[in-house]
Amino acid sequence: MLSFIVLSCSNKYDKYKSINHTIDDYNIIPKPSNLQILNGSFKIDDNTVVYSDSVLNNETEYLIQTIKNITNFSISSLDKNFNNTHIINLELTDTINSEEGYVLDIAYDRIDIKAKTTKGAFYAIETLKQLILNSSLNSESQEYLIPALHIKDEPRFSHRGMMLDTGRYFYDVEFIKQFIDLIAVHKMNIFHWHLTEDQGWRIEIKKYPKLTEVGAWRNGTEIGRTPGTKSDNIKHGGFYSQDQIKDIINYAKKKHITIIPEIDMPGHNGAAIASYPFLSCFPDEVTPMNDNIISEKTKELLNSGVKKVVQESWGIKSDVLCAGKESTYTFYENVLAEVADLFPSEYIHIGGDECLKDNWKRCPNCQHLIEEKDLKGEEELQSYFINHMSAFLKRKGKKIIGWDEILEGQVTPEATVMSWRGVKGGIQAAKQGQNVIMTPREPYYLDYYQVADTLNEPLTVGGRGPNTVKDIYLFNPLPKELTETESKNILGIQGNLWTEYIATPNYAEYMLLPRMTAISEVAWYSGDNKKDYEEFLKRLNKFEALYSKMGVNYAKHVFE
Ligand code: ACM
Ligand code: ZN
Repeated sequence: MLSFIVLSCSNKYDKYKSINHTIDDYNIIPKPSNLQILNGSFKIDDNTVVYSDSVLNNETEYLIQTIKNITNFSISSLDKNFNNTHIINLELTDTINSEEGYVLDIAYDRIDIKAKTTKGAFYAIETLKQLILNSSLNSESQEYLIPALHIKDEPRFSHRGMMLDTGRYFYDVEFIKQFIDLIAVHKMNIFHWHLTEDQGWRIEIKKYPKLTEVGAWRNGTEIGRTPGTKSDNIKHGGFYSQDQIKDIINYAKKKHITIIPEIDMPGHNGAAIASYPFLSCFPDEVTPMNDNIISEKTKELLNSGVKKVVQESWGIKSDVLCAGKESTYTFYENVLAEVADLFPSEYIHIGGDECLKDNWKRCPNCQHLIEEKDLKGEEELQSYFINHMSAFLKRKGKKIIGWDEILEGQVTPEATVMSWRGVKGGIQAAKQGQNVIMTPREPYYLDYYQVADTLNEPLTVGGRGPNTVKDIYLFNPLPKELTETESKNILGIQGNLWTEYIATPNYAEYMLLPRMTAISEVAWYSGDNKKDYEEFLKRLNKFEALYSKMGVNYAKHVFE
């Protein structure tokens, strides 16, 4: 009886052997390293079942949910012993070399997903998701006919990252998860979470509760582009509890994303200093602020004798951590100890960017340490500070990442460098044998305008950019100055969304998309010499369906 059913099922799908597709049905971003178009279609319907090992439970669940989401079919999951002919088979195998790679075979009667790790299987499902979405768009019969193919795919870079600055504006947990979802559909694997700033401290630290009682809140925000016009006098803030962070880490893990937290030091510490003034070189000096951008509430506080407050305007601030006092080091070791315990990531980002040295030059403690340690001035004091934290984190089993300013002085070769002021820092670091992540502000800062004509664009950073989709797509992360061996030190690339002017999830999504989609292709696909922007745009036009499905906002310029 059973064999009769199986036989009739198989007949039912025979006609899909000959339903072929056009190149339009094979739009995938990021582009797979190897795609072969084959004859036939796999029809998703009520009879489709998934076979998988229990080690792939998370991915199987994700696949079933994905199919339900798009097609409304509730497909079931079975163990391998049951013989059915209309199957999606998921399995892990050592025949695939790449840790993140996968093979996806689609034929009229079955789909096979093979990967070395669960991560590779997850990426295969992301590819399949795009094909399913695409098929529903194209199919006149409203059937989900998935085009037959053979894909063998693996990423170019191991670090495929996106940074979100939650210091300038606080984004709730729901948006953080949305951001993680976006990273996942792009087959990216790193969420760099910028958690501390002059304008807000966002992570609960149990030992220092004032960091979030005081530091997570500001009494107003600059209106207009820096130097702005006045304060909006609206209290803004928020922070992530350690429980919320654990929940987010778990959420990301299911999508094979590692969260690298950034605790920025020794600059960008206005919020920490407002919470614990002893961290400043000059605890008794009032926080230097832009005169016309002090909220009424903060004016009252300062009149009442409070010295240190959370910053309410953008720009680089001079009140930085004192690098000459033992107490600063102890404080930050305690902070980092909690951060290292919380985040499973091998890397912790400790910033190091834009630290003005004015205070250090006139601080007796900083000057004393420079003399005592025989440092060549303030730049070496900065690398002394970074190296100290690096050594501390190493004892906790962690490695550090820093912005390219950490190359000033004598930074430890163990530090990974994020090249943001162009690619120069990245080239220098790679030549010295240091690991590098390329995130040059032009074109990888997504807070810069995305088009040259800014008349109808919402306010954002001026003076640089625009960083267009095309600039991003055409960027070559491996500079010609590097030899092949030196290029191996480039771990990957990253897009950064700083949020001085980006106060809402809606605006954030507008800045992210579709530029993030272009970054994902550069991060994944190895075809620098085969880049074809027009061809990419064609695929991007189909990818738009995924934005819609996810309910995210995106900029429409390149779709018009
Ligand atoms: C930076 O943009 N300050 C790293
Ligand atoms: Zn000092």
